[in-house]
Amino acid sequence: MNQPLFPAPDVKPGQTPPRYEGRAKVTGEARYPSDVRLPRTAHAYLHTSRIGRGTIRSFDLAAARAVPGVIDILTHETIGDDPRHMPAIYQGGYISDSVRPLGSADIVYWGQPVAMVVAETFEAAREAARRIVVAYAPHPTLAADIRSADAVTQAVEPMTIDTGDFAAAYAAAPVRVDAGYTTPAQHQNPMELFATQCAWEGDRLTVHEPSQYVNNVRFGLAEQLGIDPGRIRVVSPYVGGAFGAKGFLTQRTALVAIAARRLGRPVKLVATREQGFTVSGYRAETRHRVQLAADRDGRLLALRQEGWELTSRADAVAMGAASMTARLYACPNISVRINTVAADRSTPGFMRAPGEMPYGFALETALDELAVALDMDPVELRRVNDTQTEPVAGLPYTSRSLMRCFDDAAARFGWKDRSREAGSMRDGDWLVGWGCATAFYPTYAGNSAARVRLSADGRVHVSSAGHELGQGMYTMMAQVAAEELGVPFDQVTASLGDTDLPPAIVAGGSSSTASVAPAIMAACEAIRRRLGVEGGSPAEVMPALQASGMWVVEEFAEVRAHGLPAESMASLYRGRATPAGGVHLADRVQFALGAQFVEVRIHARTREIRVPRAVGAFAAGRIINPRTAHGQLIGGMIWGISSAIHERSEIDHRNGSYINANLAEYLLPVNADIVDVEAMMVAEEDHQVNRAGVKGVGEIGVVGVAAAISNAVFHATGRRLRDLPIRLEDLM
Ligand code: MOS
Repeated sequence: MNQPLFPAPDVKPGQTPPRYEGRAKVTGEARYPSDVRLPRTAHAYLHTSRIGRGTIRSFDLAAARAVPGVIDILTHETIGDDPRHMPAIYQGGYISDSVRPLGSADIVYWGQPVAMVVAETFEAAREAARRIVVAYAPHPTLAADIRSADAVTQAVEPMTIDTGDFAAAYAAAPVRVDAGYTTPAQHQNPMELFATQCAWEGDRLTVHEPSQYVNNVRFGLAEQLGIDPGRIRVVSPYVGGAFGAKGFLTQRTALVAIAARRLGRPVKLVATREQGFTVSGYRAETRHRVQLAADRDGRLLALRQEGWELTSRADAVAMGAASMTARLYACPNISVRINTVAADRSTPGFMRAPGEMPYGFALETALDELAVALDMDPVELRRVNDTQTEPVAGLPYTSRSLMRCFDDAAARFGWKDRSREAGSMRDGDWLVGWGCATAFYPTYAGNSAARVRLSADGRVHVSSAGHELGQGMYTMMAQVAAEELGVPFDQVTASLGDTDLPPAIVAGGSSSTASVAPAIMAACEAIRRRLGVEGGSPAEVMPALQASGMWVVEEFAEVRAHGLPAESMASLYRGRATPAGGVHLADRVQFALGAQFVEVRIHARTREIRVPRAVGAFAAGRIINPRTAHGQLIGGMIWGISSAIHERSEIDHRNGSYINANLAEYLLPVNADIVDVEAMMVAEEDHQVNRAGVKGVGEIGVVGVAAAISNAVFHATGRRLRDLPIRLEDLM
């Protein structure tokens, strides 16, 4: 099946190209994986566990089987050719977590799939799934969350950092801060539900599933099913929000593939909103202890951050982003410890700036506490400790424009009018507070490939198995090809999200553009070489093609990212292209940086918290498309506000379930909560990070906002709140 091609909107020269797929999306022409209608589709519905830990004693399926239209019910007793066990992605597998649903009678988290009904209609499958009766033998103890006494805490030794002598420097310093911070469990809740459709034609399987990494799904699923990966095609031309939750193969996909093979019919599974809380990863709750010491001028003398992150008993997952916070400021004595806390919950995963958001909240709030202890402006505290060299290994930043971000955003925000004393900016019934914090996100890139075809009628087609999550991948691909070949944007078509295309990296780690743009540029360069205008200007390309007498020139290119060895190219063709960069390079560190400023208003009597104003400035290398980048940045900032004062997945401590697993009770901001959000892009050239000079903006917008808000709440009220989310009951 070919992807739909649609005319791109008109673009005038010099304008920022509009969103390539915007028209298709607003007209409903864009077909998401669950929109694909296949003949004779049977519908699947999950039944999930109602205990947090224990075993299944027996099933009573009689009432479920009696529902008209029910075709099949898969349980661990009936599945037969069950998918092979696979270690989680963190342990070398392809999959988000290693708990195989329907693999045994064991229950290791509430909401674990224990049965899947397949029926003629969605409604029949749902009705039958509700009529399944499971007899459980619950385990006598349960660790529901990070505070549970029965949760198992373990140090993650490889994430330990010791530079200088933290203990001695801290003890001797004149000014010190020592505080604890917490962040809650949160769920991505992409608007598009988690959906999978599987269809077999003979021994060939096509999977329609919204994915951030189609090749990972293909190769991982092949291993689980024990079949040749060449027989699997994964198609995902649009993803209706992912945010890390659709990053890798999930345990659901193989169940649908197996059901479709048993039936000889396509099978479609759409997990419900509530099921989405436990059948995918999430942002785990974290705890932090931060100790900072400085001289009287604010120069950091000692920095220690210890983190505790919730994980499942099955998979020891840790984001460990103190490896980044420890490198943000000049400091001679640094200590980092990371711990996992294993509880009876599903395995957490990536959620937009997965480590940077919580670890950044803790460090950047602690820095504000230090500024208060020093009676120093918090912007000046960052300036005093600004550095072009990271302090752990002494490696240079490829580029770092942090203070330009602070200065630009501060000017725009009007920071100079802030009166420093807490509680000093009251406006009638409203307590006004202004706060700021650093935003950071590591610059990653991975091996990727692309194909570009130029025809003599001036049309270009560019393809790469990257992913459109709403972030602007189609637009970027078409724009880069147009610019490199000197053709108008509206003459370019782009294909992505399909394992039949040249492979690309996971759409994660804010690395898609930094990885795929260089591959497109290399393919365009190969076209220019074929036409004898290598190194020439794009304007020479079309005349050269017309003079050559050729009708079509088509070139393929693969690009290896900095820091990856030659043998890593093979992993690109096995669905294992991992991003390199950030703090993981031997010769340098790579970060996008930014500054977040917010105003909060707290009502003197009701304690209602408003955030009427947020200004962010970000330096992220080359911005290919300011329009899509702006969407990413303000989207991230809005989510930052949400993470600070709205969102928390509430856990029932009796069974480890989520009490608010729906969009009515999981608190999200609406338009009335988000008033004035402004993202500025600070010009920055970086010729080292990658051929495109791109650092990526997918995640940085969310980082630092929560700290800026907690700092502003302190400024408004004089109360330091160190636990997210901050809600009005915390200010009573
Ligand atoms: Mo992003 S959380 O790296 O998908």
